[in-house]
Amino acid sequence: MSAKSVSIGICGLGTVGSGTFNVLRENAALIAARAGVSVQVTHVGARRDNADCDLSGIRVSRDIFQVADDPQVTILVELIGGTMTARELVERAIRAGKHVVTANKALIAEHGNALFALANAHGVEVRYEAAIAGGVPIVKALREGLAGNRIEWLAGIINGTANFILTEMRDKGRDFADVLVEAQALGYAEADPSFDVEGTDAAHKLVILASLAFGMPLQFESVYTEGITRLEPQDVAYARELGYSIKHLGIAKQNGAGVELRVHPTLIPHRRLLANVDGVKNAILVEGDAVGPTLYYGAGAGSRPTASAVVADLIDLARATAFNDVRGLPSLGIERSELRDLPIVDMENVDTPWYLRMEAEDRPGVLSRVASLFSDQGISIEALIQKAPVYGETLVSVIVLTNRARQGNVDAAVGEIERLDCITGKVVRIRVEELDG
Ligand code: HSE
Repeated sequence: MSAKSVSIGICGLGTVGSGTFNVLRENAALIAARAGVSVQVTHVGARRDNADCDLSGIRVSRDIFQVADDPQVTILVELIGGTMTARELVERAIRAGKHVVTANKALIAEHGNALFALANAHGVEVRYEAAIAGGVPIVKALREGLAGNRIEWLAGIINGTANFILTEMRDKGRDFADVLVEAQALGYAEADPSFDVEGTDAAHKLVILASLAFGMPLQFESVYTEGITRLEPQDVAYARELGYSIKHLGIAKQNGAGVELRVHPTLIPHRRLLANVDGVKNAILVEGDAVGPTLYYGAGAGSRPTASAVVADLIDLARATAFNDVRGLPSLGIERSELRDLPIVDMENVDTPWYLRMEAEDRPGVLSRVASLFSDQGISIEALIQKAPVYGETLVSVIVLTNRARQGNVDAAVGEIERLDCITGKVVRIRVEELDG
């Protein structure tokens, strides 16, 4: 083994920080062999110790900025989360000439453009494999494995907490709030779990994936985001009856008009692999023009899976540092200002099949009135189910699956349907994706 060593400073010793610290220690020999240098944690910045980590012999600072200011540290690992202090910390490290590894998707999605520009100016790298899909090496797949492809689209289950909740609700009929508490206890959920269930976390990840896939600047504010909190159990059951699972997907797609960026609950056919990705697992389906569809699957959250991705970045940077070859690291351009602006497609013009459910009076003529409103908007019906009324009730559930239709036309048809005197309440609308390559 080389006598050389690269010094690492870890800021944050929570779920991911402690996992990273311990994986570096447990796998030290193989990590050194792969990096070509020994990779040593020499400084930890954390508000408190973590009983899972033996910090003896390591400098520990309660003020994380001391890690950024430590001249011995070559690579700073930012695992404190949040965006304000994390941004200050990362900027300070970059200005001090350090490379940065982070698992912080909010930081990259919201401030990545500025951070990459700053890193460029200082000749250092910001790496973020752990920011998307935990331990799944999707950044490496896009950046390296698929580098010869034009990426057409990608669709992923990229929030483990939401997927865990949907799976438990579907399989065990558990209560939403109860499953969320368990996800928090297991260390899957964000500090603010509304980020998980309202789709913000998935939107952060999607925008990074889209940047890598299409070589465009990060545009978090342009992502259409819809969470899982309004999903009703009966729609999960009806979808199943029609041969579909409901998953919370992040979708980025290039079409002639620009790029679609959207996060929302989606019906996908049971026969697709993605429909069978359950629990806290994540999976991303990527379609390249040369390779066709490819699928990346694994643990999307948790201490050691996320640490696995952090350590992969550390090995790359340690190796590049030791051999003085940082500019030779693979890149699709996102960190290096070779980006092209692409227009974001307005949701009104996004075209998908739809699942629609409405509560209708059980009397003659209702279905034909509904059908004619779809036909007025040029929307073709693929399947239609009417449920018999529950005993003593006069309302029936009508479920419609449409062929592909522009959201603008669906909005118009649904607006008219909701005004009919034979329809009660709002029409439930969920997009469908066939996910065929
Ligand atoms: N809260 C995130 C999730 C953690 O549940 O997927 C990993 O980013």
